[in-house]
Amino acid sequence: MKVLVCGGAGYIGSNMTAMLARGGHEPVVFDNLAKGHRSAVKDAEFVRGDLADYGLLVETLGNYGIDAVMHFAAFIEVGESVEKPLTYYRNNFCNTHNLLCAMAEAGVEKFVFSSTAAVYGMPETTPITEETSKAPINPYGESKWAVERLCHFLSETKKLRYAALRYFNAAGAGQDCTLGEDHRPESHLIPLIIQAAMGKRDAVSIFGTDYPTPDGTCVRDYIHIEDLCKAHLLALDKLDEAYELVCNLGNGKGYSVREVIETVKKVSGKDFRVIEADRRRGDPPVLTADATKAKIELGWRTDYPQLEKIIQSAWTWHDNHPDGYDSKSPRPV
Ligand code: UFG
Repeated sequence: MKVLVCGGAGYIGSNMTAMLARGGHEPVVFDNLAKGHRSAVKDAEFVRGDLADYGLLVETLGNYGIDAVMHFAAFIEVGESVEKPLTYYRNNFCNTHNLLCAMAEAGVEKFVFSSTAAVYGMPETTPITEETSKAPINPYGESKWAVERLCHFLSETKKLRYAALRYFNAAGAGQDCTLGEDHRPESHLIPLIIQAAMGKRDAVSIFGTDYPTPDGTCVRDYIHIEDLCKAHLLALDKLDEAYELVCNLGNGKGYSVREVIETVKKVSGKDFRVIEADRRRGDPPVLTADATKAKIELGWRTDYPQLEKIIQSAWTWHDNHPDGYDSKSPRPV
C-alpha cells in the first residue's frame, strides 16, 4: 500500500515509516521539519511540506497515488499547549482538518491517527479503557480529542475509514536501535534520564514525590516504539473492513518515575544526581492502559513489554548518537 506518513521525520513517524517499508508498503513522508529530522527518514520518498498547504497536500496525495494516510505531525508538549492554545489548535486540529479535506478531494479514505491518553484527562480509575470518560484537561488533549470527534462524524457519513490509536508513553528505539527519540527541547522522562546518565545534564528532576502511589512518584505505562508501530500496521489492515476503530495502546503495567530512574542506572551502569522537585502541573498520578480491545480486535501482541528492554534500546540509540540526530558519525550498532 502507498502510505503518506505525515510527521514521518519525527520520533514515532520515522519508526513507522521504517516498519512500513520493511512490511512491503511504500511510505511517502510528508514533514515540514519543524520538529523532525531529515536523517531519520531512510527508506522512503520525502516531501518537505506543511499540513497548512492544502494545494501541496492534494498534489502529493494524487501524484504518489496514496492509498492511506498515517498522521503523526502534531505538537506534543502539554505544558506548552497551556501557554499557547491557539498554536496547538491550529497545528493539531486545523491542520488535520485541512489534511482530511485534502484526502476527501483526492479520494483517499483510510486514516490512522495518532491520539493520546491525554484525551482522558485525570481518570478516576485505572487501568483506562476506551470507554473511560473523555475529559482532557489541557489544549493538547482537547486538540486531539476534537480530531477524534471529527473523524467519528466523517466515518458515519462513510466517507472516512479511521483508526484513532491512543498512545500511553511511547519509548525506546526501533529499527535495530537506529531510530530514537530526539526532541528539542527534550521534555520526556526516559531521554532526560539517559542524558543525565551520559553526563549531558547535571541531574534529573523527579516532578513530585507526594503522589498517592507506592513510592510517591507518578506511574506511567511505557510502550516500546516497535510494539506501538506494529499496532498501526494491524489497524491499517483492519480499515479494509471497518469504518471506525479506537484503541488504547499500552502494556497495562505501570512504572514509577523512581523505577524508571533505577532501570536507567542498571542498564547504563552509570550513577547521576537525582533532584526531588515540585509536581509538574497537570500530571495525573497514574496512567495505565487496558489494551484488551487492541488485542481482541487487532490481534495485537507486544514483543517488548519489559521496561528494561525498552530502556536498553533507548540507551543503545543515545550511546550511538551522543548528539542525537546531529551526531557527526553515529557509531554503528
Ligand atoms: N517527569 C519527571 N521528570 C522529568 C520529566 C518527566 O519526573 O524531568 C515525570 C512526569 O512528571 C511524568 C512522567 O515523568 O509523571 C512521564 O513524563 P513524560 O513527560 O515523559 O510523559 P507524560 O506522561 O507527561 O506524557 C506522555 C506523552 C504526551 C501525552 C501524555 C498523555 O509524552 O504526549 O503522555 O498523558 F500527552
